[in-house]
Amino acid sequence: MCGIVGYIGERQAAPILLEGLSKLEYRGYDSAGIAVFDDNKIEVAKAKGRLNVLAEKTNDGKTIHGTMGIGHTRWATHGEPSDENAHPHISMSGRFAVVHNGIIENYIALKKKLTDKGFEFISETDTEVIAHLFEYYYKGDIMDAMIRVINRVEGSYALGVLCSDYPDSFVAVRKSSPLIVGLGENENFVASDVTAILKHTRDIYYLEDNEMVVLKKDSVKVYNKDKEEVPKEKFTVDWDVSAAEKGGYEHFMMKEIEEQPKAIRDTISPRIKDGRIVLDDITLTTEDIKNINKIYIVACGSAYHVGVVGKYVIEKMCRIPVEVQVASEFRYCDPIIKKNDLVIVISQSGETADTLAALKEAKNHGARILSIVNVVGSAIANASDDVIYTWAGPEIAVATTKAYSTQLAVIYLIAAYMAEKLGMLTSGEYAKFISEIEALPDKVAEILKSKEELQFLASKFFNCRSIFFIGRNLDYAVSLEGSLKLKEISYIHSEAYAAGELKHGTISLIEDGTLVVALATGRELFDKTVSNVKEVKARGAVVMGVTTQAHENMEDVADYVVKIPEAHEMLLPSLTVIPLQLFGYYVASLKGCDIDKPRNLAKSVTVE
Ligand code: G6P
Repeated sequence: MCGIVGYIGERQAAPILLEGLSKLEYRGYDSAGIAVFDDNKIEVAKAKGRLNVLAEKTNDGKTIHGTMGIGHTRWATHGEPSDENAHPHISMSGRFAVVHNGIIENYIALKKKLTDKGFEFISETDTEVIAHLFEYYYKGDIMDAMIRVINRVEGSYALGVLCSDYPDSFVAVRKSSPLIVGLGENENFVASDVTAILKHTRDIYYLEDNEMVVLKKDSVKVYNKDKEEVPKEKFTVDWDVSAAEKGGYEHFMMKEIEEQPKAIRDTISPRIKDGRIVLDDITLTTEDIKNINKIYIVACGSAYHVGVVGKYVIEKMCRIPVEVQVASEFRYCDPIIKKNDLVIVISQSGETADTLAALKEAKNHGARILSIVNVVGSAIANASDDVIYTWAGPEIAVATTKAYSTQLAVIYLIAAYMAEKLGMLTSGEYAKFISEIEALPDKVAEILKSKEELQFLASKFFNCRSIFFIGRNLDYAVSLEGSLKLKEISYIHSEAYAAGELKHGTISLIEDGTLVVALATGRELFDKTVSNVKEVKARGAVVMGVTTQAHENMEDVADYVVKIPEAHEMLLPSLTVIPLQLFGYYVASLKGCDIDKPRNLAKSVTVE
């Protein structure tokens, strides 16, 4: 969703802003704009559509001079994508320029008040009220105006604000929307995430809610709402610049698929010491674990699908009841949370609005929060009692792959850690499980060697109108992700179904030639799923079976068979998902889809 970059320094700002915005494109957007302080006034350029339209308009930023500015990529919420609705928005006198990520929930009331006072609006956005509010409250001190603005608005915001009375500084603030500060040599930055500024600096400040920052080229000061300076700790990001570059790949998605062995290894290795799982990052004691009454797993999208795997794995290994819920439902369902219930929140970005709100709802009910997050210092990480970071590195493609895989790896670590503390595993079982987790990266790498097989299968089916995924238990959990991967990037209708449930309605959709991807990796339920394969075959379906090397008789029933290596039953999802990611990717590629930026989707969903 919307992305923000701000720069102040000695270099020409506009090209730096455009380049920073290009690194935020992955978040999803439909218009873009920049405002630069130049020659005692604020110059603005904005354009509907892709960033290259804005780049062309400004000759890659070269036509706009000035060394301080703010930039924005907008994912439309209030008002259609258009030049007028694109940010930055300017106050009536032209004194203030504002970029905003988030939603101002009381903007209608504010707009009415400002209109009554004579302010004229030219856009349909909620953001424009902020520009006018600055003007309205400004009495010569921008910080005082900012404090009054943030006291007046309700909702979420990350703001970057230029004021033409301040030629040497600009200000920014955030609440429930991401914004970090980048610290350079004679230059400083703000950005929605580190990828936008990684090329210039790795030293950053994370901002807490309602912390306001004043950036000059040679200083950065952070203040609270009482205008008191807040001391900030500097963090150094260890992400490599190349981690956020395509590095010769046609798409980030394929690069990230290929990065999975490393990402899984980076996530598990530091947490396995001398054959034991060590979760130094969490404060949950053995006593706490023994007292857990129930676990909720709450997340959105693919992270929710990790939760579905988590339910099966934790219930099987720890015998603790687990309920998985999508965050947008959980936040409004008045959840029944009792003493000693644990809520596990899963999020790659750490900023998904519904997930964050669900976390807060759980906290209000007294729950303890353990989160699994990829972005260090993100809102969800900050709001949790305990955080286990996935070390996937930056994930740019909208369709997640390596974040999903590392989240799964963390679920396995948590399940085994708790099961051992609960005495549910013998020392032999525990050791075996750990060595099987450690073997996962190599097994994923092995599957990736046979990419061509999936490319071939994609070439057979990329014209399908509808594709079904079926499986039981863990295979069902992975079906959900396989189906989502396919539909989000290839726009082919797809559904995932618990294999045994198919005949309660959905089987009526199977006709001659319908592709059914049947996942049957687990030993216990293999024969059951094979029966379901026979049912759909009898109704004309073409079946692609995905199973382990042990199951030889899949070939007897399925038209095509994809084999994955053997592994501990609980860990199979880490392997099963790989061919499904590849299949989705190649289908979308053959259809000529915009794989990294599928239509209508955003990487970070910062609105509910
Ligand atoms: C978006 C992304 C998905 C992701 C979901 C949750 O829909 O496209 O890939 O799974 O948000 O995001 P999170 O950052 O909370 O994991």
